[in-house]
Amino acid sequence: FHRAMVRTMTAALRIPHFGYSDEVELSRLAALRKELKSLCESRGVRLSFMPFFIKAASLGLLHFPVLNASLDEGCQNITYKASHNIGLAMDTSQGLLVPNVKNVQLLSVFEIAQELNRLQALGTAGQLGTNELTGGTFTLSNIGSIGGTYAKPVILPPEVAIGALGKIQVLPRFDAGGQVVPAHIMNVSWSADHRIIDGATMSRFSNLWKEYLENPAAMVLDLK
Ligand code: COA
Repeated sequence: FHRAMVRTMTAALRIPHFGYSDEVELSRLAALRKELKSLCESRGVRLSFMPFFIKAASLGLLHFPVLNASLDEGCQNITYKASHNIGLAMDTSQGLLVPNVKNVQLLSVFEIAQELNRLQALGTAGQLGTNELTGGTFTLSNIGSIGGTYAKPVILPPEVAIGALGKIQVLPRFDAGGQVVPAHIMNVSWSADHRIIDGATMSRFSNLWKEYLENPAAMVLDLK
């Protein structure tokens, strides 16, 4: 696993990384998760925030497919991937591994949670296999589950974008009426391959992802 990490991270050094960060207000999502958590538990599934982050990313990728693409070695061709196989950095007994949830564009939030539970159980048991660890097209790294606010994530080639999620904190913010209220705040740090993704595209994708998470009702509207 360490040898693979050396190989991929050395290849990643050749990619000009564009960094972009923002703050996301998750109070509505926190309330929604609280509501759905026990329902999921009654169906035998643990519901964290990750399934929402992953689904919102997939809904965003539908509008910005270049973020779910790869660039060939000679930088001549861009391949757009139809499947949203969203990887998540996982702290496992074997070290950092990045299994992916396949075809997120076809899955409900519940189905993503179910698959995430399965991947986490395999990760804990040190049993993640080739099928789980290959074919990723886009990655999210929830470093906030350990701690920390900002990160500078490194793209996993041949992918072209990655997002790092900071810890969700309750912090004072102004509401629409100018009153200070407690808000669930998370920071996101994106890195994109600047050879094929410009800052405006990354920023527009991030805005859309953020919009879905800040107004989860909008996410329901666009679910297939
Ligand atoms: N901020 C605050 N709370 C968080 C959080 C965050 N960013 N991420 C997770 N939590 C909460 C979850 O909501 C859950 O709360 P609950 O007990 O009330 O349900 C609890 O922490 C445990 O969640 P976890 O088991 O970590 O699930 P997850 O789906 O959020 O994350 C992984 C799954 C695989 C991403 C995570 O376990 C992991 O391995 N994180 C480390 C990733 C890493 O090493 N990144 C660096 C790569 S360079």
